[in-house]
Amino acid sequence: MSKKTILVVGSSNTDMTAKTKNLPRPGETVLGGVFTMGAGGKGANQAVAAQRLGGNVQFICKVGRDMFGDNAVKQYEAEGLDTSGILRSELPSGVALIYVDEHAENCIVVASGANGDLNEADIEASRGALEHCGILLLQLESPIPSVLKAAKIAHEAGAMVVLNPAPACELPEELFRYIDLFIPNETELSTFSGLPVEDAASAEIAAAVMQGKGVGKLIVTMGSKGALICEGGPAIFVPAHKVKAVDTTAAGDTFCGALCVAISEGKSLKEAAEFACAASALTVQKMGAQNSIPFRKDINI
Ligand code: RIB
Repeated sequence: MSKKTILVVGSSNTDMTAKTKNLPRPGETVLGGVFTMGAGGKGANQAVAAQRLGGNVQFICKVGRDMFGDNAVKQYEAEGLDTSGILRSELPSGVALIYVDEHAENCIVVASGANGDLNEADIEASRGALEHCGILLLQLESPIPSVLKAAKIAHEAGAMVVLNPAPACELPEELFRYIDLFIPNETELSTFSGLPVEDAASAEIAAAVMQGKGVGKLIVTMGSKGALICEGGPAIFVPAHKVKAVDTTAAGDTFCGALCVAISEGKSLKEAAEFACAASALTVQKMGAQNSIPFRKDINI
C-alpha cells in the first residue's frame, strides 16, 4: 500500500539553548552551562521527525533572507524534505530562546519573525499542495488566519487534518470543525475545553467537550505518563517508556510527526500512539530539538 503524503505547514526557528540548574524567576539572573544552537521550530521539528521516521513529507514555512534562513533550508534539504513550498520574508528568521533545567523541563520564548509573516496569500499559493496531501499537520506558531485557511482547504479536499494546538492561544470555533485529529497536552486541553485536566479521567471529559466543538478524535499527550486516545468509545491509555530525560524540547513534536507517519502507513491510532511514544522517549534522552529526533532504524517497533 502506498503511504499518504504528509504536509506540514508551520514554523522554522533557530533554537538557542542554555542548560541551568533552576529556571530563572522574573527579575532573576542565574548561571547556566554551555550555550548550544540548533535547528528547531514546532513545524520544522514535526516535519523532520516525520521524514526521519519514514514519511513522505513536504514542509511549508517562511524564513528570512538571512544566515539562519539559509542554514535552515539547507538543513531541510539535507534531511530529504520536499522544500519546494518554503517561502522567504523580509523579516528576520524565527529564533527560540530556550532554558532547560536539571529536571529536563524547559521554558521557551519564540521571536517569531518570518513565521509571523506566513499570510493567507501564501496559503492560497500553496493550495495545490494542500489539496493533494493525505495528511495535513499544523501547529500554532503560525498566524491563526493562515492555520484556519490551510485547515479549511485541506479538509474540503478530503485530507486528514491534524492539529497540535501548541502554543495554546485563542482560536476561532470554526477551526475545530476542520480538525480530524487534535493532539493537545494536558495544559492545552484544559485551555481549549475550559475544564481542569489532571489525569486520564478528567482528560476524557475535556476531550468530549472538544468533540462537542467539532473536533474528530483526540490524543492527549500526558508527558512522562503516556498518551490518551479518545475516539468516541472508551478512551485507550498508552503508557510512556520509562527513561531518564535530559531535555524534553521537541518531545511533543516527535510524537506528532511519528504519529502521522504511522497513520500514513495505515496503522490504527493505538499502534500509531505506541510508535510515537517510542520515538519521543528517544528524543527526551538527548539535548536539543532536531538534534534529538530519532531515525526509523532507532525504533524497535
Ligand atoms: O516544541 C519545541 C520547539 O518550540 C523548539 O524547537 C522551539 O523552536 C519552539 O518553537
